[in-house]
Amino acid sequence: MSELSVEHLLGIKYLKPSDIDLIFKTADHFKEVINRPIKKVPSLRDITIANLFFENSTRTKLSFELAEKRLSADVINFSASQSSVKKGETLIDTVNNILAMKVDIVVMRHSNVGAGVFLSKHVDAKIINAGDGTHEHPTQALLDSYSIREKLGNVKGKKIVIVGDILHSRVALSNIFALQLQGAEVKVCGPTTLIPKYISSLGVKVETNLKKALEWCDVANVLRVQHERMDIKYFPSTREYTQLFGINQEILDNLGKKIVIMHPGPINRGVEITSDVADSNDSIILNQVENGVAVRMAVIYLLAQQVKR
Ligand code: CP
Repeated sequence: MSELSVEHLLGIKYLKPSDIDLIFKTADHFKEVINRPIKKVPSLRDITIANLFFENSTRTKLSFELAEKRLSADVINFSASQSSVKKGETLIDTVNNILAMKVDIVVMRHSNVGAGVFLSKHVDAKIINAGDGTHEHPTQALLDSYSIREKLGNVKGKKIVIVGDILHSRVALSNIFALQLQGAEVKVCGPTTLIPKYISSLGVKVETNLKKALEWCDVANVLRVQHERMDIKYFPSTREYTQLFGINQEILDNLGKKIVIMHPGPINRGVEITSDVADSNDSIILNQVENGVAVRMAVIYLLAQQVKR
């Protein structure tokens, strides 16, 4: 297969295993490109991409922009906080004005669940979801799986535990879909108040004891508590959260085996993970960031092949 089965990247739930294989094979090529002295290819010289960020971002925004520039696309950046959205302009009006400037692909992060799907039905451009509220963050899940594949050789058959605030995490949901599509086994671990009730319907088991969860897994993907999405208290205190669900070197030393440590960022050091673990040889956190550029180049390149020129 040399083409994606989808017209947009709105969520992992719309992908087939063959799409993930194609994205990873393409990313392998681009990873080699970005490690050359000249890190750029002319593939998308005739493509224009708009990065629309209605929510804050460091990694995703910079990674998409770099991926687009490495492919030689023309890039425009939009940040809602500095835009006419502040004067009451709607999402559709904002995007249609940007598309009037002949944009082919829109990368969008938005706080509303389904914002990417909505946009894909109303505008004539390829849409890439860079995170929609608590729903999906497909490129994060792709780069996470790509990093596991790179570290362990394969995702199939591996045991992955996602630790932390599962309820508010688009990274968790996209990871669950992506890992299961590739034949991995997934558990979640966190306070019961931060585990969604529908989780068992996804074929995901819950383990509330961190030590048992870590003993079971090959990989722990550690998530931040998303205080900004909480309007009530979900656990008594940050101190108690860290005591029960924080990953430190002592817990890992007592496992009697090595596990791979991941985190999508941003990290709250000393809360969900200690600095010595985040910066250890078992951590692939910065590999995830590096791989994000190659994986996003692959996604953009593959969707751009469908743009009529
Ligand atoms: N992982 C991630 O989405 O980070 P940013 O919010 O900084 O983009």
